[in-house]
Amino acid sequence: MSNSSYEKPDHWSIKAKKEGYPARSVYKLQEIDRKFGLLRKGIRVLDIGAAPGSWSLWVLKRLEGTGYLMAVDLQALAIASAGANFRFIRGDLYDQDLRSELLAAGPYGLVLSDAAPATTGNRVVDQGQSEAIVEAVIDYAEACLGQGGSLVAKIFQGGAEAGLIKRLRTRFTAARGFKPEACRPGSFETYLVATGFRP
Ligand SMILES: C[S@@+](CC[C@H](N)C(=O)[O-])C[C@H]1O[C@@H](n2cnc3c(N)ncnc32)[C@H](O)[C@@H]1O
Repeated sequence: MSNSSYEKPDHWSIKAKKEGYPARSVYKLQEIDRKFGLLRKGIRVLDIGAAPGSWSLWVLKRLEGTGYLMAVDLQALAIASAGANFRFIRGDLYDQDLRSELLAAGPYGLVLSDAAPATTGNRVVDQGQSEAIVEAVIDYAEACLGQGGSLVAKIFQGGAEAGLIKRLRTRFTAARGFKPEACRPGSFETYLVATGFRP
């Protein structure tokens, strides 16, 4: 973000460091998980935009060695990037070969996306890129979620949310926006949460 105060360590950043998470974003997922009850042992999860790896680390903790986590990002993870039930692939979510590889490891019970474009400072451009990522993530979810599966996707607020929620409601039992308290004050990000996928 262009505002330098944005990067100042706050309560959540300090807590994340103490608890061994590479990013404060973990508390957003924890809050979403508490509210919607998405993670459980044995579930297969696709984590899009996973670096540096806080969400993946939390998912692995919740899986307790069961289920499976497939993670992807343009950047490397700051956590161990493989395990018996975990695989990380470095690449671009728009890449068609990568897409085929990620889909082949499905079906998943949960698709997570905290993916965000590198911000330019131009809010309209940034929102447009964020919206394009969410459209691509919904395409992924529609192609790889099993019956009753769920989706969480970050979006920069800017007016596209209502249309995306409308789209989600055509294939999911419920869909809504949810802004965790751990989002930085003044941040314009929010999350779309959809549950009850109908393949
Ligand atoms: C806010 S970070 C994710 C933080 C992560 N959930 C965590 O808890 O550590 C957003 C990530 O989205 C990734 N990203 C953005 N565009 C992407 C793309 N086209 N393909 C894959 N990853 C992308 C960025 O590289 C960045 O690491």
